[in-house]
Amino acid sequence: MKTEILRLLQSADGYISGQQLCDRFQVSRTAVWKVVEQLKKEGYQIEAVRNRGYRLVKSPDVISKSEILSRLHTKWAGQSIVCYEEVDSTNTQAKTAGENQGCHGMLVVADRQNAGKGRRGRSWASPPGTNIYMTLLLKPEILPDQASMLTLVMALSVAEAIEEEYGHPAWIKWPNDIVVDNKKVCGILTEMSTEIDYINYVVIGVGINVRQEDFPEELMDKATSLKNACGKEVLRSQLIADVMERFEQNYEAFLERGSLELLKEPYEKHLVNMERQVKVMEPGHEYEASARGIDNRGELLVELPDGTVKRIYAGEVSVRGVYGYI
Ligand code: BTN
Repeated sequence: MKTEILRLLQSADGYISGQQLCDRFQVSRTAVWKVVEQLKKEGYQIEAVRNRGYRLVKSPDVISKSEILSRLHTKWAGQSIVCYEEVDSTNTQAKTAGENQGCHGMLVVADRQNAGKGRRGRSWASPPGTNIYMTLLLKPEILPDQASMLTLVMALSVAEAIEEEYGHPAWIKWPNDIVVDNKKVCGILTEMSTEIDYINYVVIGVGINVRQEDFPEELMDKATSLKNACGKEVLRSQLIADVMERFEQNYEAFLERGSLELLKEPYEKHLVNMERQVKVMEPGHEYEASARGIDNRGELLVELPDGTVKRIYAGEVSVRGVYGYI
């Protein structure tokens, strides 16, 4: 009932009468009042006016199940949610759920991580109250060698959601960093459990710097937050809901062809490396080339100085700009 009351308060233009809420949920006025009091304790500013009813004045930037669900319009992505105030890593929790009864589309979200993981064994700083740390559990019926494409599907979904909420261009640094104003605002870490020809589960972990203001010295020219870059405040729960909605649509387009065929065009529109010189770093070998886009499997196409085009597989190599991160 809490989620539904929140949903109604959010979508109402003005006041909603207590009687309307009672009729809707078939409960007493006291029961409605209790839920409203609980919401106020969680930081919602709700005005109650005699003879008019309740009006939501301001929502807090909290990570809670009802707050996220009240904004979510998906069929399956994120419809089952687990929220933590503090956790080791949402990826670790989602993997445990994957081993057990966790369902396809389950979302694990935390306000803070004390063992956040980045790619290549790095850690991911995860301070409380400011950023998004979330992991989506999938049990896809695809082959293990198709799974790496899911990371690109998520990257596209995050970039689209940011643009929708902030009205500011968001770019993808192949394969899956999200970049705003030339600095990284989001990283994605995909992990999976497979048999030779069968996927048990995939977890896609997403860390988005939303309101973090200060970054360590060594990251200052490489990383930023959406608030710093766009100067706008968006509720984390809203951005989470938007990412889930975009992901659900894009995932269905991915499944339709079993590849990125239908997503190649929007992905390339967001590709920051497109038509730029990049430095390809293979183990023990570095070279420069021009990025020409992706193929239907999400491999980066690069053109070498002699005109030959090479496909780069994510995972084995990393790509940098010739002069820096981009
Ligand atoms: C990167 O190195 O760019 C990937 C960073 C991924 C961070 C996210 S935060 C939520 C999820 N849980 C983790 O421990 N890592 C991912």
